[in-house]
Amino acid sequence: MSAEGVDLKKRRMLVAATSVVGAVGAVYVAVPFVASMQPSAKAKALGAPAEADISKLEPGQLMRVKWRGKPVWIVHRTKQNLADLPTLDDGLRDPDSEVPQQPPYCKNKYRSIKPEYLVAVGICTHLGCSPTYRPDIAPADLGPDWKGGFFCPCHGSRFDLAARVFKGVPAPINLEVPKHQYLNDTTILIGDDGGKS
Ligand code: FES
Repeated sequence: MSAEGVDLKKRRMLVAATSVVGAVGAVYVAVPFVASMQPSAKAKALGAPAEADISKLEPGQLMRVKWRGKPVWIVHRTKQNLADLPTLDDGLRDPDSEVPQQPPYCKNKYRSIKPEYLVAVGICTHLGCSPTYRPDIAPADLGPDWKGGFFCPCHGSRFDLAARVFKGVPAPINLEVPKHQYLNDTTILIGDDGGKS
């Protein structure tokens, strides 16, 4: 065998040996990774649905509930708020909620199960700040057409009281409506809709 032939044979053996070591290494690496996939009790609790008692929530008020580490708003909209919503459609980016930012049973003009209660995740769809609740009508800083809604202080995105985004602001889509259900007239379960979606 020529010197070149011997070199080639050596190289092939070396490559084969390295591959075996690599495979063994992969097994050891895989074990802690799989172990870290087992959900801890804390992680399970973080993913659990959250119950909200809305019995004391007066018309016009907002309450906050923490679900999966996120702020979820529940707003008790007034009759006037509900009447105002359809008048805003022309100024909105997605008035009919075509982008699936809500479960199917909330794809309606109020984006909710019951018209008077909005349930929405309070995280701006631009870069994740939490918008401010601004139920005041025509305040100086938001202009004469403002009928109440949410204003994001980070870059000025605006949303109406159905959490729908206005045109001409940085946020690209409506705020998320999480899946939820009513356990009774005054209790909402957020994060679990009994398999409806
Ligand atoms: S994060 Fe809300 S406007 Fe940018």
